[in-house]
Amino acid sequence: MAVMLWHSLLNKELAQANEYELYLRESYIYKSDIELFGKTIVVTGGTDEVGKECVKNFIKRGARVIVGYRSSKNGIKLKEEIEDDDTNKGTLVLMELELSSMESVRKFAEKINKSEQRLDVLLNNAGILSSSTAYTKDGYEMITAVNYLSHFLLTHLLLPLLKKSSPSRIVNVSSFVHNLTTDMMFDDFNIRTGYFIPTSFYLYGRSKAAMNMFTKECQRRFKDMGITSYSCNPGAVKTNLFNHFSLIKDFTNYLLFKTFKLINPIQFVGKSANEGAQTPIYCSIEEGIETYGGSYFTDGKPFKESKLVNNDEVCEKLWDYTTDLLNLSKL
Ligand SMILES: NC(=O)c1ccc[n+]([C@@H]2O[C@H](COP(=O)([O-])OP(=O)(O)OC[C@H]3O[C@@H](n4cnc5c(N)ncnc54)[C@H](OP(=O)(O)O)[C@@H]3O)[C@@H](O)[C@H]2O)c1
Repeated sequence: MAVMLWHSLLNKELAQANEYELYLRESYIYKSDIELFGKTIVVTGGTDEVGKECVKNFIKRGARVIVGYRSSKNGIKLKEEIEDDDTNKGTLVLMELELSSMESVRKFAEKINKSEQRLDVLLNNAGILSSSTAYTKDGYEMITAVNYLSHFLLTHLLLPLLKKSSPSRIVNVSSFVHNLTTDMMFDDFNIRTGYFIPTSFYLYGRSKAAMNMFTKECQRRFKDMGITSYSCNPGAVKTNLFNHFSLIKDFTNYLLFKTFKLINPIQFVGKSANEGAQTPIYCSIEEGIETYGGSYFTDGKPFKESKLVNNDEVCEKLWDYTTDLLNLSKL
């Protein structure tokens, strides 16, 4: 823990990205009248905050949007909001999805593969920042599983449909916190040995670095199929992401983000969910950005990534490691 803290304090890439992040409150709004009639978009984490704003935007433009949802409360609320707005031109389809269960991810993908004729955009948006060292029923570290492994699996299972619908896109929602990670911890990827116990913030950063690396590998491997890939940063957004810390398991973060909510700078300078959704929307629908495939976008522009993410060898190693971990056949 102390090593991790020291390591983060000395991380210049993180400090620079953090500085820029605060400047991002001068919010960027993506302006475009692109219509999405006949297009199908799948969104994870589309029932709340950033993901929900993306879903609403796509439906306004005429798309058929499939949202993976786990909480009936937020799912029903989204459905009602969409139905109540008669300026909507598209349709919403809710399908059950619990990202901490690989079985649920498989069922979700199976349903889509059966019911859908096409898939134009897969927006892997869902993310959690909860207490560290929790495990899924498959035995994976929780933050890693929900933020990264589930999306890796989902993308692989939907690949034939994306390929059939090309030109199509994979958009992965990341964060400036990906800069926190300088080591993927392949020796103890699931944090099992107990020798080195990272904070939940480090695990969150590692999952986001993994999403950037996944984006680069998807671009390299799938671009010839007509599928381009992008990662993106919503910026610091006032959302529910910071509300899941446990008092016992994650005391420091609990104090910083929950109890002392009033002194959490994001509560003051953070973007609204709609502002945070602008770059994910841009990457999902803007025309003519294919030459930037594989890049990481902030405020609608390609942005600098960490050294680790730019290391092609580690990106390839992570791909192979994840393929084995999820028992997927090599592509
Ligand atoms: N907020 C920020 O400052 C910030 C900054 C950089 C990057 N990001 C990234 O932006 C993305 C969206 O974040 P947000 O701030 O909008 O988060 P949020 O308010 O916490 O919303 C998260 C969404 O993910 C869903 N979700 C969480 N765990 C799930 C699970 N196990 N299975 C299925 N769905 C699950 C939630 O569903 P329910 O409705 O059922 O809860 C919700 O729709 C995340 O990837 C996050 O890491 C956020």
